[in-house]
Amino acid sequence: MKGILLAGGTGSRLQPMTLGVSKQLLPVYDKPMIYYPLTTLMFAGVRDILIVTTKRDQDAFRATLGDGERWGMAFSYAVQLEPRGIAEALLIGRDFLDGGPSALILGDNIFYGHGLPEILVAAAGANPGATVFGYWVKDPEHYGVLDLDAQGRPRAIVEKPARPPSHYAVTGLYFFASDAPELARTLRPSARGELEITDLNALYLAQGRMRAEILGRGFAWLDTGTPESLARAAGYVESVEQRQGLKIGAPEEVAWRLGLIGDSQLEALAHALRASAYGAYLMSLLPSK
Ligand code: DAU
Repeated sequence: MKGILLAGGTGSRLQPMTLGVSKQLLPVYDKPMIYYPLTTLMFAGVRDILIVTTKRDQDAFRATLGDGERWGMAFSYAVQLEPRGIAEALLIGRDFLDGGPSALILGDNIFYGHGLPEILVAAAGANPGATVFGYWVKDPEHYGVLDLDAQGRPRAIVEKPARPPSHYAVTGLYFFASDAPELARTLRPSARGELEITDLNALYLAQGRMRAEILGRGFAWLDTGTPESLARAAGYVESVEQRQGLKIGAPEEVAWRLGLIGDSQLEALAHALRASAYGAYLMSLLPSK
């Protein structure tokens, strides 16, 4: 399964911070925002990722992430000229996906919780067409929302409903079968002028091929859309990292723990970042250090 990391958009709610810098490269405590969804994809078993950015920001993403090789990964890049909707990522990524299934994640979505890697791998394996992840929030009207029946099966999926049918927001991580780019081609822009990922998921639901996996309240799904939520996400990461002395969302560590790179490569990566506490942390992971 290949991955698409969507990191375009204007970040308008974070202006002026985003006037010259992509939102998804802004720091969330001690690392760029995009490291968090990137490591989520790594935990889901994805090794080959297309990073979709604005034209303006592509060089900055290349400088930050490279071609992925040093992390045992493979990154390709593509441009989204205008923010014409999340589902457009599947059209942009059509050739890259080459007729295979995909995991699509938004570059501003932060997931954290015990057992998440196992849930992701299992969900990817059991995907009938589209798999979405529901998460209880107090303000579902700001998101895609799931309508669930008494057995917890999805009955409907709606984008930013004025009267939400449940508190389960649809998070920005989706698994799709190989026909997703084809189905995305049939979508028409919504009232806000976007190819809606919710419309694509609704097509799968109508075919009886959409699964909704609920992430329980023990998980964190954090928002970074406004200055307040960005600061809260940074505070959350800082609290956990300071308490444990372990980092959330460090690709070098994840690659090493997943066996994508060995001790000597981790040491080389740590050495290159040795001026920072981040580099010292990577070094401290090595058994002999
Ligand atoms: O975060 C989850 C939510 O993401 C879902 O619950 C919604 O169903 C889904 O539509 C989306 O909500 P928003 O429409 O509010 O997302 P936003 O426009 O903020 O875009 C999400 C991220 O995707 C953002 O970092 C920018 C990026 N993006 C968005 C669009 C529309 C792109 O890169 N290109 C785009 O065309």
